[in-house]
Amino acid sequence: MYKYSLIIVAFVICTGFTASIFLTPTSYDPNTSVSSVLIALGDEVPEHYVGTVNMEKLGLGKDLINFGGVYMNGAVESKLSEHFVCTDCHNTQPETKFAHDNDPDSRLQYSKEANLPYLPGSTLYGITNRTSWFNGDHEKKYGKELIDPARHNLKNAIQLCSKECSVGRELTDEEMDGVLNYLNAMDLKMKDLNLSELELASISANGQTEEEKAGNIRLLRSKFLQGYPATFTEEIDVKERKKGEEGDLENGKWIYEKSCLHCHGVDKVTEKTVFGSGVDQKSFAWLAKYFKKSNGGSVYWITRHGTSSKEKTPEYMPIYSKEKLSDSQIEDLAAYILAESKK
Ligand code: HEC
Ligand code: HEC
Repeated sequence: MYKYSLIIVAFVICTGFTASIFLTPTSYDPNTSVSSVLIALGDEVPEHYVGTVNMEKLGLGKDLINFGGVYMNGAVESKLSEHFVCTDCHNTQPETKFAHDNDPDSRLQYSKEANLPYLPGSTLYGITNRTSWFNGDHEKKYGKELIDPARHNLKNAIQLCSKECSVGRELTDEEMDGVLNYLNAMDLKMKDLNLSELELASISANGQTEEEKAGNIRLLRSKFLQGYPATFTEEIDVKERKKGEEGDLENGKWIYEKSCLHCHGVDKVTEKTVFGSGVDQKSFAWLAKYFKKSNGGSVYWITRHGTSSKEKTPEYMPIYSKEKLSDSQIEDLAAYILAESKK
């Protein structure tokens, strides 16, 4: 008799236990990838999705993105480009606290808090969650023929950027596989979305109907950008420029150091225009001298037009869209340049 009751007790404990597994909603870890949640809800699996990341492949992808090739014995081999690495123009970290936010002021503030470069390309963090790339006015720079295949295909967007933006070559299949493993590891995480407790409970609930699942997919997608908008704009008119007389000095210093010097510093991207006070370097006085002019030396002009890659100087300056550098941030930069030029 005693034996039987033990079995019954064990049975109750076991069934009770399994039942409770089925009853408690899946509570997603803050570090769960957003793509995996979307797929669990029945969303379409993107072509670039790799599922479980392979660490060896990730290592190759990480080298390619951060060093521009395969890093071996202190040297970089099989370079994608002689002139750039991806991280000259793209961060690999979140650029705002939550993924729906793309405001330049929030991004600048966040770059200060996280000590991040402030760059003309969008962050590669969360790029696997987007459904369109090279949006808006990028077509004006690269043309429809190059943009169309890349607009809704991440692999093609990577190839376009590696060849055109990076002035380099396309990736081999193995390199692409590595890069995709690295980028998939940078998929948005649940903590990057500004979800309320209620929303999280709805997304995690068990036994959802097809309709509820579809609603939750829409809800999740509303919490991050499906594609980064890009608006090219003309430089501020000569008559409207504040020419350094007004602007936030602290912001200006940050933009100068974390954006311009990212390429114009010593031993960085630029050959002709290294910023500094040394011989053959471009000083603050040199930069300030161009405030009233509409040409390449003017920070007002150059940020909106960039330069193009030529045979003699293949490295070029990208265009900053309005989303990546606002007009008021350019005035902040001018204020800093003017203040420093007087020192
Ligand atoms: C000289 C600057 C520069 C370099 C170097 C560069 N990119 Fe880009 N990239 C850009 C700009 C500018 C865009 C325009 C769209 C954006 O990022 O918002 C872009 C766009 C992209 C996009 C589409 C982003 C989106 O959300 O629309 C991908 C993917 C990309 N680059 C990958 C790479 C990879 C991989 C490398 C290295 C092999 C690389 N890029 C190197 C400047 C650069
Ligand atoms: C992604 C790299 C990159 C970033 C970021 C960048 N530049 Fe440049 N810039 C270049 C390159 C490359 C050139 C071409 C000349 C050279 O190689 O020195 C250039 C050229 C220039 C020139 C000279 C143009 C001419 O016609 O002679 C100025 C002025 C300039 N940049 C200002 C800036 C300022 C101001 C910032 C920050 C807001 C900035 N750049 C950010 C890469 C960059």
